[in-house]
Amino acid sequence: MTSPQSPIRATYHERTEKSREAHAKARDLLPGGTSRQAGFWAPYPLTYASAKGAHLTDIDGNRYFDLINNYTAMVHGHSYPPIVEAVRKQSALGTGWAGSNLAQLELAEQITDRMSSLDQVRFTNSGTEAGALAFNIARKVTGRPKLLMARFGYHGSLMEFETGSFGHEGPVTLLATYNDLANFERVLAEHGDDIAAVFLEPVLGSGGVVTGEADFLKGVQRAAQKAGALFVLDEVLTLRFHYSGMQGALGLTPDLTMLGKLIGGGFPVGAVGGNREILKIFDPDDLKLFHTGTFNANPVTMVAGGISLAHTTKDVIARMDTQAATLRTALTEAAHELGLPFSTNHHASCLNLYFSDHPPQSSIVRKDTELIGRFHIAAMNRGLFIAPRGMIALSTIMTQDHISEITECAKMAIADVAAEAE
Ligand SMILES: Cc1ncc(COP(=O)(O)O)c(C=O)c1O
Repeated sequence: MTSPQSPIRATYHERTEKSREAHAKARDLLPGGTSRQAGFWAPYPLTYASAKGAHLTDIDGNRYFDLINNYTAMVHGHSYPPIVEAVRKQSALGTGWAGSNLAQLELAEQITDRMSSLDQVRFTNSGTEAGALAFNIARKVTGRPKLLMARFGYHGSLMEFETGSFGHEGPVTLLATYNDLANFERVLAEHGDDIAAVFLEPVLGSGGVVTGEADFLKGVQRAAQKAGALFVLDEVLTLRFHYSGMQGALGLTPDLTMLGKLIGGGFPVGAVGGNREILKIFDPDDLKLFHTGTFNANPVTMVAGGISLAHTTKDVIARMDTQAATLRTALTEAAHELGLPFSTNHHASCLNLYFSDHPPQSSIVRKDTELIGRFHIAAMNRGLFIAPRGMIALSTIMTQDHISEITECAKMAIADVAAEAE
């Protein structure tokens, strides 16, 4: 966080007076002034008025390149015309009813065609709900009470998962170290009989874009299944990295897969997919697990998600990856030229920036809190919106010109940070 006298913070205050006022009112009406912890940062978050393509506009009229795209969910940027048109049409036809719709079949078909471990999909309204559902399925199938996840992994805003994302074990949450197969095997050997499911992200997203090594991921899958636990691969974020998710890229065969973000086309969504044998738990003729939700598979989300997924082709995924690599190189060179310690984690279209010589084990335990806080504000002053923790997620509609412009803005923001660090 920047000091009150900081020129970076003073500029932020000057540019964003209406957001400051809106936040003062929000503090009165919303606990903590927000509905979402990830949408808050000090001294106050921006209130946006609109978003289109690669840009956000705040209520003071400032324009920003959106470099986080609602934490990876807006894969095609904002107000993507094919989605806007489909949602407009669907809204006129009705937005929800307590029966089926064809759009959910089309989206489920697309997902199962892409991801071979999935025969069937059960839709929810968020990745968090997908995590809760996956855990419920695992408890019902195995009759066991606990879960094992990676320390600093993230599977949603549910107490059982949140405790692990901050690095603490809980009454039902056991932890092991990401990319340390022996540690996972040890916990499974000691507590296997209690563990219903092992949850794992193929790349730690919220933990700081940490790539899971293929041998580690395959080894945990093997050890989980050997211990009689379900292996739940959380692809809520990582489906954007590969046409058939990281499981397709690495040949993983999870028992259950969590999905979200990309498959909602910008609307609230989540899903759990798996094979028929496990998911027959929902068979109405022999119901073992009750699961419902007023907005599950609502047709608006389903049509938007169908377009979002169909337009996430191998070519656009490859283009985003190249753009992220270009940006990473440019930012690293700029920071080093200015004499700042700087490193990145990078996987496909996502980056996490660190003002330290090496990335930490997780962005939860970073030592550069002061500098990244300063850069986050400086970047907004220069017209770039990144996650407060330094995460960047590109979208498919960005052009090479955008990347060049973003690079120039980012260089100025890095220079602002360097000037204040002197
Ligand atoms: C890997 C992962 N799992 C689960 C979730 C939770 O999804 P949601 O925010 O839709 O509840 C997220 C959200 O960031 C995520 O990144």
